[in-house]
Amino acid sequence: MQRPDWAPDDIDVERPSVARMYDYYLGGSHNFAADRVAARAMVEAVPDAPLMAQANRAFLRRVVQHLIDAGIRQFLDIGSGIPTVGNVHEIAQRAAPEARVVYVDVDPVAVAHSQEILAGNRNATVVREDLRRPEAILTHPEVTRLIDFSQPVAVMVVAVLHFIPHSDHPEQTLRTLRAALAPGSYLVLSQASDDTRGGAERVEAERVYRRTDNPLCIRSRAELTEFFDGFTLVDPGVVWVPQWRPETPESAEDAEQAVFLGGVGRLDG
Ligand SMILES: C[S@@+](CC[C@H](N)C(=O)[O-])C[C@H]1O[C@@H](n2cnc3c(N)ncnc32)[C@H](O)[C@@H]1O
Repeated sequence: MQRPDWAPDDIDVERPSVARMYDYYLGGSHNFAADRVAARAMVEAVPDAPLMAQANRAFLRRVVQHLIDAGIRQFLDIGSGIPTVGNVHEIAQRAAPEARVVYVDVDPVAVAHSQEILAGNRNATVVREDLRRPEAILTHPEVTRLIDFSQPVAVMVVAVLHFIPHSDHPEQTLRTLRAALAPGSYLVLSQASDDTRGGAERVEAERVYRRTDNPLCIRSRAELTEFFDGFTLVDPGVVWVPQWRPETPESAEDAEQAVFLGGVGRLDG
């Protein structure tokens, strides 16, 4: 197949990537035929997949606005994805131009496209790293250039943990990140759950994602809540993402259909 100009040399365009499938659900153009085939198989199995992605993005935007209003000026967004409408730096820097944002992703397309979008933005950058290597993230020169860990930071791991299996010990990763944070910092998490849907859709979704490097690891509300160990959950706690401080009551209707659970925790002093 023909490689577009923006495709980094070191990627396998024949193997679907979860970052590029997500881009497809959101109507983006940074995906290849293999990604589209897998994403369409997912939509066939779970027709609401694009709506779930949109609900998750809307959650992310509301959380960033909430954290800006709470005085947060530093954001470390891990598993940030291929930039789309309403990225963290756009929301944060619109309200507070001095806000600093570091994006981290393992996917080379996500990193390359983020670099393009962030060119000339002195207060935002992107790093190619793996969530499972938290020390490497915390000590990366681009991270320490923009993030002052003696001050509060919002660490965002949004729609990523369902790609981290239990055997990779995500709870240990989150503990390492927590240990680096100053009081007043925040942890933002969302992840796919099947507390309401489950069944055939789950089996099919798992089958589709086995084609990627990131098989799905669905978790319950109790499991996601445990990841906030050491943090105090901000109201309303761990909920279906449309229920997290919705802009209108109507936008939280049928919230469990969103499949993503999300929450925000604050590190007390
Ligand atoms: C569903 S997208 C979510 C993007 C964004 N956080 C959002 O919520 O809109 C998941 C992203 O996590 C990234 N990802 C998956 N495993 C990762 C890992 N171990 N370390 C860093 N990023 C990872 C993928 O490349 C992809 O860009």
